[in-house]
Amino acid sequence: MSQNAAVSAGDPLWYKDAVIYQLHIKSFFDGNDDGIGDFRGLIQKLDYLENLGVTTLWLLPFYPSPLRDDGYDIADYYNVHPDYGTMRDFRRFLQEAHKRNLRVVTELVINHTSDQHAWFQRARRAKAGSPERDYYVWSDTPDKYQEARIIFQDFEGSNWSWDPVANAYFWHRFYSHQPDLNFDNPRVHEEIIRMLDFWMGMGVDGLRLDAIPYLYEREGTNCENLPETHAFLKKLRAHVDAHYPGRMFLAEANQWPEDAVAYFGDGDECHTAFHFPVMPRLYMALRMEDRFPIIDILDQTPPIPDPCQWLMFLRNHDELTLEMVTDEERDYMRRVYAEDPRARINLGIRRRLAPLLENNRKKLELMNTLLFSLPGSPVIYYGDEIGMGDNYYLGDRDGVRTPMQWSLDRNAGFSYANPQKLYLPVIIDPEYHYEVLNVENQQKNVSSLLWWTRQAIATRKRYKAFGRGSMKFVAGDNAQVLAFVREHEDERILVVVNLSKYTQMALLDLADYAGSTPVELYSQNRLLEVKESSYVVTLSPYAYYWLALERETHEDDGTTDEGMYELEVQGEWSSVLTESHEFAAQALPAYLRTARWFGDKRRSIQHASIADTLPVEGGGETAYLLVIEVSYREGASDTVLLPVAYAGADKAQRLLDESPRSAIARL
Ligand code: BGC
Repeated sequence: MSQNAAVSAGDPLWYKDAVIYQLHIKSFFDGNDDGIGDFRGLIQKLDYLENLGVTTLWLLPFYPSPLRDDGYDIADYYNVHPDYGTMRDFRRFLQEAHKRNLRVVTELVINHTSDQHAWFQRARRAKAGSPERDYYVWSDTPDKYQEARIIFQDFEGSNWSWDPVANAYFWHRFYSHQPDLNFDNPRVHEEIIRMLDFWMGMGVDGLRLDAIPYLYEREGTNCENLPETHAFLKKLRAHVDAHYPGRMFLAEANQWPEDAVAYFGDGDECHTAFHFPVMPRLYMALRMEDRFPIIDILDQTPPIPDPCQWLMFLRNHDELTLEMVTDEERDYMRRVYAEDPRARINLGIRRRLAPLLENNRKKLELMNTLLFSLPGSPVIYYGDEIGMGDNYYLGDRDGVRTPMQWSLDRNAGFSYANPQKLYLPVIIDPEYHYEVLNVENQQKNVSSLLWWTRQAIATRKRYKAFGRGSMKFVAGDNAQVLAFVREHEDERILVVVNLSKYTQMALLDLADYAGSTPVELYSQNRLLEVKESSYVVTLSPYAYYWLALERETHEDDGTTDEGMYELEVQGEWSSVLTESHEFAAQALPAYLRTARWFGDKRRSIQHASIADTLPVEGGGETAYLLVIEVSYREGASDTVLLPVAYAGADKAQRLLDESPRSAIARL
């Protein structure tokens, strides 16, 4: 049964409801025992990802490359690195992912290539001024564009490097083995369109535009976010709209909010962009136990065009970047989150989520709750769903790119290779050791972080307000408690989090929602009705609430006026029993809650799942006996037997007249 059946194939705004999972092929699973993850391995783990509930996979670069910047130094844009498999493997992976309704986002790294790319090798030998030479940016002196900052400042002293073959300096915003392409050369534009056609033509759903602010250079500027860059993006987007409607561009623009929103254009550049500035402020707010940094940065964030979406993240494959904070804030962040200088790199911190949060389960849940609640679509970094540790004694950013921990077997169940062959060693830090911290162990323990994450994702996916809703902060007297409402159509979700390590009480101004009843999303427990006067909430340390503000009983549970649930079904009606996640997760609990015969109504149903579907033939029609497992917020679960059959419109009406509570769903 597909967990993602609700992801509508045709919705061009799919990225608004996406839950994105970021992974590196080499790190996920090794399918050929050579110590390096590959597409064959990833295919074997797609069921795991589907089961986690994510809807979209973002793959880090997997193209032929000398791997001096982990694949962001591309030597051939039209192939797969042999360590990771073949083009055939990639195509099969894409097919298998799509079969599970998982979308695939890959990388379009166009600011620079590897110096091993044939274009660069040709350029350095070509005549100065020739179109071949002009694929890159050259100069006789290293003095041009002095206002451009150096990004990899721990490794590079200048954005220019001397090439003895060309007898000239070449421009690079990153490592000196990554020469920048010259976007003033129309041939470069053609090359990019060609590679975009290659990957999108194959069916890739989205492209992350790496390092997109730095495409052009102009004297007297900082060479970032230039009008020429935006003009080029509009051209690229027009091409995608004309040929690949429904696909997505994702801007990697590590910029202040007003510069980052420019990458949405007027809805005619990128569909999505990372919200870089909000990320460090989540960590600051938590450590300072104060909501101000979050409110402040979101207040500074201009509105974005309707079809566009922010992407929120807590961690990724790079250092926790501290470029978009003030100097004082950076000092503070480094002091409190990276006391050991070895944990620092460039302007950031090379640590994973769990170690940053002192492996504190409450903090992990709270930060993930913010990730899943703030306006935008969340991106989960592989391994963070189980709270993996890191190893900052490894070079560069490798400490957060170690093998995924599947089990306590050799190499964390990631590979059967000789442990010495692994592309990076597995984590053996006693606190995060793979023998204890792994997927297998967490699968077995329903109290694990993995189960929590799965449940949080499933819950988020039930409410469009998280992906599409407006956002309004709720005034409250206690700065340690952050509260806001996400609203979309009928859904209004109040999010309340306690950023403090102590129990807190807050008086929230919910007058706009007077008359509604907050219903906790996980338990479906109902809290006291909201009145005009302040609403009192008490929260234990680092507690969080997701509360649906319901106007009337059950108004929000998806049922129609007659108490029926509406479901869309294609083909046989019985496919809802096996394929519709919505049927089991929502229609059944909604029906059971109202069914007269159904046992203990004081207990809240947490979850219903169909354990078995037994066909019962009779009178030329097939009915089914469903074996349903019902679990509750507290206490033991029940097994319920429920006969179901299909009735056409007239018969259904007759039955409803006779017994108003006899129907579960309208198809
Ligand atoms: C990527 C980095 C990479 C850099 C240069 C960044 O945006 O996220 O991992 O080193 O681009 O390509």
